Amino acid sequence: MTYRIGVIGLGQRIAHVLAAMKEVGWDLEVVAHVDPAPVGAPILDVAGISPGRACTDPAELLRRGPFDLLMLGAPNHLHFEHLMLALESGAPIFAEKPIVRTQDETWALARRLGAAESPPVYVGLVMRSLPIVRDVLDRVTRGELGEIVSIDATEHLPPEHGGYLARNWRRRQAWGGSYFLDKVVHDFDIFGCLVGARPARVASFGGRRIFTAERRDPPRTWEDGSAAYALRDAGWAGANDAFQSDMDVTDHQVAMVEYANDVRLSFHANSHTALTERRWYVAGTEGTLIADLVRNRLMVRRALFRGKPDKVEYGGVTADAHNGADQAMALDLLAALQGRAAFPVTPFESLEAGLTVMAIDEAMEARQVVDCAPMWARYDAARSGAADPVAEQGL
Ligand SMILES: NC(=O)c1ccc[n+]([C@@H]2O[C@H](COP(=O)([O-])OP(=O)(O)OC[C@H]3O[C@@H](n4cnc5c(N)ncnc54)[C@H](O)[C@@H]3O)[C@@H](O)[C@H]2O)c1
Repeated sequence: MTYRIGVIGLGQRIAHVLAAMKEVGWDLEVVAHVDPAPVGAPILDVAGISPGRACTDPAELLRRGPFDLLMLGAPNHLHFEHLMLALESGAPIFAEKPIVRTQDETWALARRLGAAESPPVYVGLVMRSLPIVRDVLDRVTRGELGEIVSIDATEHLPPEHGGYLARNWRRRQAWGGSYFLDKVVHDFDIFGCLVGARPARVASFGGRRIFTAERRDPPRTWEDGSAAYALRDAGWAGANDAFQSDMDVTDHQVAMVEYANDVRLSFHANSHTALTERRWYVAGTEGTLIADLVRNRLMVRRALFRGKPDKVEYGGVTADAHNGADQAMALDLLAALQGRAAFPVTPFESLEAGLTVMAIDEAMEARQVVDCAPMWARYDAARSGAADPVAEQGL
């Protein structure tokens, strides 16, 4: 069958996902899209996919249904609104992460998803589809490392990527949420699976010390004289200059998490580094593993073993650092729609990963350790349709 697709937010991301879907063999037609200035149009063009009819708003798009799949890829502040509309249409939904941007949106969406029959919602937490990540989850679930004790993780971006974040809509909390919410919600989703418990307490420190107007004459050229911080058009609501924008999210941040089962985790992220890294160091009672997500390789060894560690190379390293994840997710999406396999992540898991990151940001803002119990109580109440415990207390 040819999948009839409607797109709300035809940016770079949805265009790349559509291209990956076509690449792995989907038979698809983008029937219509809504986007005031589709940043993803040139990517679709290269992939030989027509963007379909341009609609003025989601209501017009939905009238042009029925669709076999609605794909939502607008900036993060629009996710909730678009999801609520899409849910009413009854069509299966592919929604980009973070599923929503704020705690209030989380309660409302959890309440909606918990209460009524909903079409399937597949969230683009694309790392779930990566073979290396599947292998890590499988090894940990099978108990290869024993009980997980502690985790140390990083994500360090190259300067051009950080400069793009400082110019793109992600630079503003009102649009992106936060640096962590937009960039590392993927990682905290996987940590939740590895640990098998929710965060009990979180702490975090972060700020802006790289992309600020206060820095005097930051270098702006590479060693060969070419202009730095010029990667890609900054797109929707973009700013011209990475150092002179109205950015209000962090450009580096650290976090510590204590999970309810006493697993402890530290995380370090920096958006302007010369040695890029996305690495998870997972230490268990009986073994340790290091997942190198940039180089797509894994190292693992039993604790009481003096021989060489096992090394697994997954290959397929790509310049965008996605390392084939989009193609793998495109296959997972097709399998889910055809009822052959469950999609690797549920909307509720996506909401929980988002809440974890929001609690971390709250701790950073307050400069205090945040007790997550009240947050989970509100979430569980919303999900089960019970009264909001905070509203009940008249707070
Ligand atoms: N899963 C991943 O690995 C991954 C990677 C990149 C981005 N994303 C997510 O995808 C989403 C889009 O990111 P992007 O990088 O494509 O951004 P982008 O800036 O390239 O695209 C956003 C698009 O939304 C459009 N838009 C703005 N207002 C709109 C509205 N009212 N209605 C419809 N469209 C509107 C813009 O014109 C633009 O074309 C974000 O939620 C982001 O977090 C996910």
